Amino acid sequence: MPSPATKITGAPVVITGAASGIGRSLARRLARLGSPVAIADVDEAGLKETAASLGDRAQVLTRVLDVADAADQKRFAGEVREWLPAPLAAVFNNAGVGLGSSVADAVPEDDQWLWDINFHGVVNGTRAFLPILLEADSGAIVNTSSVFGLMGIPYQSAYCASKFAVRGFTDSLRHELRGTGVRAITVHPGGIKTNIARNSRVRSDPLGLGRSSEEVTAAFEALLRTSPEKAAEVIHRGVERGKARILIGPDAYAIDALARIAPARYWDLVAPLVERQMGLRAKNAAINATRKDARLRNWARYDALDYAIGCPAASAGRARHHRQKRQMGHSVRLRPSSPCRLRQSTH
Ligand SMILES: NC(=O)c1ccc[n+]([C@@H]2O[C@H](COP(=O)([O-])OP(=O)(O)OC[C@H]3O[C@@H](n4cnc5c(N)ncnc54)[C@H](O)[C@@H]3O)[C@@H](O)[C@H]2O)c1
Repeated sequence: MPSPATKITGAPVVITGAASGIGRSLARRLARLGSPVAIADVDEAGLKETAASLGDRAQVLTRVLDVADAADQKRFAGEVREWLPAPLAAVFNNAGVGLGSSVADAVPEDDQWLWDINFHGVVNGTRAFLPILLEADSGAIVNTSSVFGLMGIPYQSAYCASKFAVRGFTDSLRHELRGTGVRAITVHPGGIKTNIARNSRVRSDPLGLGRSSEEVTAAFEALLRTSPEKAAEVIHRGVERGKARILIGPDAYAIDALARIAPARYWDLVAPLVERQMGLRAKNAAINATRKDARLRNWARYDALDYAIGCPAASAGRARHHRQKRQMGHSVRLRPSSPCRLRQSTH
C-alpha cells in the first residue's frame, strides 16, 4: 500500500548532483513548476550552467559540495535551513559516479572513491537533512539507487555494492520513520541518457577486447535509453503518488521482475541480451574460434597417430568411437590401455 503522498510541486527541495543528468533535469522541472531549489554539485561550472538554465524567476541556492564530505553536508543543511522560504518538501540524494572493473583487477582507490560518493554521500545527505524534515514532521528523503541495486552485474561489483547498500539503508530508514510524517524513497533508474558513463572510471577494457575507454563508454551508452527529462518526471510523479520505490524505464521493470522470478539464475537470461549489446558476442566468438582451432589441431594429431599405429586394423570399433567423439567436439586421448596403443606396442 503506498504511503501518504508528498506534495513537492511548488515547495522547496534540495538536489545533489544537479550539475548534470537526472539532477539537472529534476532541478529544471521542479523550478519550472515553482519550487525553490537548493542545488549542489562538486562540478562548479556545471552547477552554474544548471542555475542559469532555471530562468530569472526561479528561487535558487547553489552550493559547491562534495557529498562525500559529511561535515560540509551538515554546513550545507544549515545554510538551507536559513534560506528556506517554506518547509522543506524533499531532499534528493542523487549525486553518483560509475566504475567499470573486474573484481580481480579492481583498484582499491577506485572502489573507495565510488563508495564514498555513492553510499556515504547518500548517508551524509540523509543525516544532515533528516532533522529539518523531522522538525516539520513532513517531507521525503529520496535516495538514488539503480537497477544495479536490484541485480548484480559483472564488472560492476563496486557500483552494485554501493547501490544495494543505498537500497538497504533507505529501506531501514523507511521503517524507522513509520508513524512520522517523513518518508524515505528509493529510486531505481534503468539506463538513462546522461553523462554517467563519461564520468565513470574505466581503467581498462573490462571484457579484455582491447577497446579504448571511449569505446567501452560508447558500448555502455548504447544501453541507456530513457531521457533524463523523462526520469525527472517519473521521480516527481512517484514521490507525489506516495511510492516507496520508484522504477524508471521499461528496463528497470524487466530487471525488477527477473530478479524476483529467478533470484539466483537471472544472469543466464540477461547475459545473451547484454552480450549482444556490449560486444561480448564478439569476444565469445573469438574464444570459440580458438577452441575450434585447437580441436581441429587435436583431430589432425590423433588421426596421424591412428594412422601411425594402425588403429583401424587394431580396433575398427574403437577407432570409430574415437572419431565420433572428435566429431562431437570432444578430445580423445589414447590411454596406455587403449587397444590402439597395445597394438602399437606389439609391432
Ligand atoms: N544514468 C543512468 O543510466 C543511471 C542508472 C542508474 C542509476 N543512476 C544514478 O543516478 C544518479 C545521477 O546520475 P546521472 O545519470 O544523472 O549521471 P551524471 O554523471 O550525468 O550526473 C551525476 C552528477 O553527480 C555529480 N557528482 C559526482 N560526484 C560528486 C560528489 N562527490 N559530490 C557532489 N556531486 C557529485 C557529478 O558532477 C554530476 O553532475 C547517480 O546516483 C547514478 O548512479 C544513473
